[in-house]
Amino acid sequence: MLSLAVLLPVLAGSALAQVPLPNPQWQPQNASAGAVPSPYGTSQPNPQWSNLLGDLLWFYEAQRSGNLPSTNRVSWRNNSATSDGSDVNLDLTGGYYDAGDYIKCTFPLSFVLMSICWGATDFGKGYDLSNQTPYLDDMLRWGLTWLEKAHPANDTLFVQVGDTNADNAYWGGDQNIPGSRPSFQINGTNPGTDAAAGAAGAFAACSNLYSNRLFSNAFSGAATLQNSSYASELLQHAEQLYDFAVHAPGGMTEYQNNAPVAGDAYASSGYGDELTMAALFLAWATNSSSYYQDAHTYYSNYSLKGYKGVFNWDNKTPGVNVLFAQIEQAGGFGGGNLSNWQSEVERYLDGIVYGGGDGWMTKVVCYITMAIRTTRVSTLR
Ligand SMILES: *[C@@H]1O[C@H](CO)[C@@H](O)[C@H](O)[C@H]1NC(C)=O
Ligand SMILES: *[C@@H]1O[C@H](CO)[C@@H](O)[C@H](O)[C@H]1NC(C)=O
Ligand SMILES: *[C@@H]1O[C@H](CO)[C@@H](O)[C@H](O)[C@H]1NC(C)=O
Ligand SMILES: *[C@@H]1O[C@H](CO)[C@@H](O)[C@H](O)[C@H]1NC(C)=O
Ligand SMILES: *[C@@H]1O[C@H](CO)[C@@H](O)[C@H](O)[C@H]1NC(C)=O
Ligand SMILES: *[C@@H]1O[C@H](CO)[C@@H](O)[C@H](O)[C@H]1NC(C)=O
Ligand SMILES: *[C@@H]1O[C@H](CO)[C@@H](O)[C@H](O)[C@H]1NC(C)=O
Ligand SMILES: *[C@@H]1O[C@H](CO)[C@@H](O)[C@H](O)[C@H]1NC(C)=O
Repeated sequence: MLSLAVLLPVLAGSALAQVPLPNPQWQPQNASAGAVPSPYGTSQPNPQWSNLLGDLLWFYEAQRSGNLPSTNRVSWRNNSATSDGSDVNLDLTGGYYDAGDYIKCTFPLSFVLMSICWGATDFGKGYDLSNQTPYLDDMLRWGLTWLEKAHPANDTLFVQVGDTNADNAYWGGDQNIPGSRPSFQINGTNPGTDAAAGAAGAFAACSNLYSNRLFSNAFSGAATLQNSSYASELLQHAEQLYDFAVHAPGGMTEYQNNAPVAGDAYASSGYGDELTMAALFLAWATNSSSYYQDAHTYYSNYSLKGYKGVFNWDNKTPGVNVLFAQIEQAGGFGGGNLSNWQSEVERYLDGIVYGGGDGWMTKVVCYITMAIRTTRVSTLR
């Protein structure tokens, strides 16, 4: 059997995408190229929106950590942080840097992967029509491959690589990143319910995408990148992490209680929303009413109803309401109440658009949100 050490040099420097990347590469548009007329009334996508989608995926490519593949599109990026994980004798290289700094953070990364996979399952034809699906595949696998490495055993999840304070004191490029990049974990005795459940949600949502598990009432169809063995591999991580989140011998707690350094950057305000979201994506992935029952239990136990705040890496509740509505509208698992979830989604979005919520918008965002509200809620009806 080949050992990991033999495989690694072969893998380093090669692209992860299974969908062949375009040649020539897609690159962000030159800003001074200006607006391009929209081909209204044709089957072509609006190039402005296609470019936005392309820019979004290119942004993640600019954030890559580790040994970059020969297909790297970002000319000013280099290999970096190539010994991450060596302090714990693991390979934790790769993944994405958090922001303008060079820490790698599991909790917000999980939110990113979950959101992109969910969107690409429900509205994936947009990626296909924009010719961005190969980059979507590449972007997701770059993150998921790292998240798999960060989950080396059922009850172990690395939640951060790099020390927040040391890293934030450095403002340079990727060639002089301060060394000594410690790896921080949660495990059975020192758990982190939100981080484990958040990663479970990401793996399950991405498994749905890679296996093309659509609801009977799917909006547009998934982006075309299916791979059933990869989907099962992702689902296995999801189920193990969910089990870890729920049954860790150390009980349930916010992950920063056991990995304080992670709390400096991304402290979680509670794990009820991550548990609910993970259970819902697993119910979708496995068609199992027991996960769906769990989701109902968490939702009421952690009093998620009536939430008015933002939807972000910490707070998944607005998305949870939409997921409940999607599952109910597709038939549910018996005994559910679709209109209850529809009202909850509308209440939340109305609070943003018409006031009364904790979030508010600039005018442009307001128009976009109103458009999304109109299309999304009417599709849910
Ligand atoms: C499916 O994904 C697996 C795991 O990443 C990969 O090894 C395999 O080559 C992929 N299959 C195809 C047909 O691309
Ligand atoms: C962007 O496009 C303008 C106009 O076509 C051109 O003058 C300029 O050199 C381009 N810049 C880059 C960086 O390609
Ligand atoms: C960084 O990458 C660029 C482009 O690949 C290369 O030209 C440059 O030599 C690299 N810089 C260093 C310090 O390795
Ligand atoms: C479990 O996690 C805690 C907190 O990160 C850490 O201090 C401890 O060393 C870990 N246990 C093992 C066996 O690695
Ligand atoms: C890890 O979880 C799987 C179920 O996903 C289980 O079959 C296996 O026994 C677990 N391994 C250990 C060491 O607990
Ligand atoms: C889920 O399982 C039920 C039977 O328990 C079946 O009727 C339904 O078609 C399944 N749905 C999916 C999406 O597989
Ligand atoms: C419900 O919440 C309480 C604390 O508020 C907690 O002790 C209990 O374990 C929770 N039950 C479930 C199923 O999450
Ligand atoms: C379903 O939810 C709606 C809206 O919250 C509520 O008015 C209705 O009474 C509920 N129906 C049942 C059967 O609980």
